[in-house]
Amino acid sequence: MKHIDWMGRAVAQAAGLHPYIPGKPVETLLREKGLHRAIKLASNENPYGPSPKAIAAMQQAAAEVHRYPDGDATLLKEALADFHQVGTDRILIGNGSNEVLELLIRSFAGSGDEVIYAQRGFIVYALATQAAGATGIAVPESDGLTHDLDAMAAAVTERTKLVCIANPNNPTGSLHSNAAMQAFLDALPRHILVIVDEAYYEFVADELGDSVQELSHPGLIISRTFSKAYGLAGCRVGYAVADEAIVGLANRFREPFNVNLLAQAAAVAALQDRDWVLSRVAETVSERDKLEAALDSLGMSGGHSRGNFVLLRHSRCSEILQRLEDHGIIPRPLAPYGMADYLRISVGLPAENAEFLSVLKGIVGESEE
Ligand SMILES: Cc1ncc(COP(=O)(O)O)c(C=O)c1O
Repeated sequence: MKHIDWMGRAVAQAAGLHPYIPGKPVETLLREKGLHRAIKLASNENPYGPSPKAIAAMQQAAAEVHRYPDGDATLLKEALADFHQVGTDRILIGNGSNEVLELLIRSFAGSGDEVIYAQRGFIVYALATQAAGATGIAVPESDGLTHDLDAMAAAVTERTKLVCIANPNNPTGSLHSNAAMQAFLDALPRHILVIVDEAYYEFVADELGDSVQELSHPGLIISRTFSKAYGLAGCRVGYAVADEAIVGLANRFREPFNVNLLAQAAAVAALQDRDWVLSRVAETVSERDKLEAALDSLGMSGGHSRGNFVLLRHSRCSEILQRLEDHGIIPRPLAPYGMADYLRISVGLPAENAEFLSVLKGIVGESEE
């Protein structure tokens, strides 16, 4: 085919841009291995599902899907504004927090600008930065797992537009206190935007405190999601809290009906069912700690995680991955993060976690024979 000129910019920009690799879908593994059932522990979802009130809200909203959703997500914004004790004009709603992150990076960074993130920070920051035509500055972690906040502050140049930090971080599971984060914010120039991505906030809420109220910087953007603790990953709804001017500008780049009608209804109901979220978070954290203790006793711990996932570290990770998949268990390989000797295992239901451990012990036993 003749060279097509209009592709030039996209092709150049996509050079070296790797698509996001999600956890392997259950159906794919079943087909690959000829299995009848599989346990997916690859995408940090909430295995308990959403609040029954969120499901009821979606069932009710289903009768209205011939209408466009509210493009301003008015009820959801009001519920979130009430929850965070901020004005509605400080809330940016997205089709998952992934869209919020991409929208912010695309709105504020472009050719000639730099975006700073950790080398093993959530991979979407690097992908969105490159897609926006900006330059990503990946700062190595201090111990391979924890963001080096001093080095990240030192990486700021006059070209820096944005800094992205996940707290807790996926995939390394590390956490910085609000005091450490505030010291970092204080070290940054006031004109720089800082995304503190709190997708896993609910799993550390008691310890961390109210970051929306406690942290301050003119360019601070705190993003959260309904995908993890709230169990609404399939609905795709997330948000950020930031200064009105930041939200106003990002809204100009936003697609008009970016969050669908069912997702808006589900998120409002989920937010209001506090007890449900708190009880599922407590169960998840308790299961996570049990999984970590078991990995530790097998000599396979990859460090303490503060999210709804654990890290397995072993020199023969790819072999363990294959053997787990043979048994219908889907973990997440971390090679795309330069962590080839790690697997990330999302916390599942108690019976799923027990099955994972029993299969893992079998694999370890076989290889020791
Ligand atoms: C740190 C972090 N931020 C953001 C996201 C995006 O989540 P969602 O788009 O489902 O809100 C994820 C998903 O895994 C994540 O791990």
